[in-house]
Amino acid sequence: MIFEQIATGGCQSYLLGCPDTCATALIDPEVSQIDRYLALASRDALRIRFVIDTHTHADHFSAARQVADRLHAKTVMHIRSPAPGIDMRVDDGESIALGKLRLRVMHTPGHTADSMCLVGSDRVFTGDTLLIGGTGRTDLPTGDPVALHASLFDRLLKLDPALKVYPAHDYKGRSHSTIGDELRTNPRLQHSELEAFVRMMKALDLSMPTHLTEALRTNMSGGKTVTQMLAEAAACVPFMSMEELRDRVEAGPQGLVVLDVRERDAYEAGHIPGARLLPRGQLELRVNEELPDPTARIVTCCEFGRISTLAAATLRTMGFQRVAALDGGMKAWKEAGYPTQSGAR
Ligand SMILES: [Fe+2]
Repeated sequence: MIFEQIATGGCQSYLLGCPDTCATALIDPEVSQIDRYLALASRDALRIRFVIDTHTHADHFSAARQVADRLHAKTVMHIRSPAPGIDMRVDDGESIALGKLRLRVMHTPGHTADSMCLVGSDRVFTGDTLLIGGTGRTDLPTGDPVALHASLFDRLLKLDPALKVYPAHDYKGRSHSTIGDELRTNPRLQHSELEAFVRMMKALDLSMPTHLTEALRTNMSGGKTVTQMLAEAAACVPFMSMEELRDRVEAGPQGLVVLDVRERDAYEAGHIPGARLLPRGQLELRVNEELPDPTARIVTCCEFGRISTLAAATLRTMGFQRVAALDGGMKAWKEAGYPTQSGAR
């Protein structure tokens, strides 16, 4: 069997394939590892056919759509997943074919309503239904401790105790365990009566995952993360270093427009000498009167260098072909002791 485990922080993703045909599935890919998945597949001449999310993740950004688009693979999720545009929705009892391998779908709601485990011949990918020494939490949207109890005790834990368990998370650097090990040692499985289990799950006082709302928004809708928006903007605009801009500002105006896209109060508290104010929120509305010359050379700036990147990308889209963004922001500019001016212009 072709098998790779890729850890990103506590998130685990897996490449699993048939050695005879090179047909491969990628399970629970994470957005920061896209290049790694593509590199692994090409290193081993694998054909990734399916990109599977075991459930709607609340704590990391799924790369399923992006990897699938790059490789002409199919995205796979459980039939109850709210994500749009899933190529192949699967249900309990069905199998995903990878050459001669089969991954059987076991619907295991509880952590989320769309959670599923993928059962192979010697291993099971448990998503967040069963973790090493733990279980998925049930306090996030669509979580249900009663359903998790049934999924674990009536279904998953009745599988062969020798099956290896590969979860979607492990924060302690462990690669896997077995169903038998978990039955014996997992503290959350020691309460097999429903009431005690539910009481224990409800008593867990877990902090909310960082990026909860953004992960749910993008994973459920197929929308973009803020990081992705910034990366896409940064990939289509040039930057000007702070030193370069300082030298040009000190050399006097040479047809370079420094465009400060912060709000007025931030601008008046201190801006680059000669900079013009055009807040990002008014950019499209006022661009015609403020920047009548589409051939003008423009450098956008803001507080941290992020909004100015988006503004520069917007201006390029609008036809200003000589726009760059400041590589840095006013915070760094001031910390570097570079010249500023205050007040209205
Ligand atoms: Fe999860």
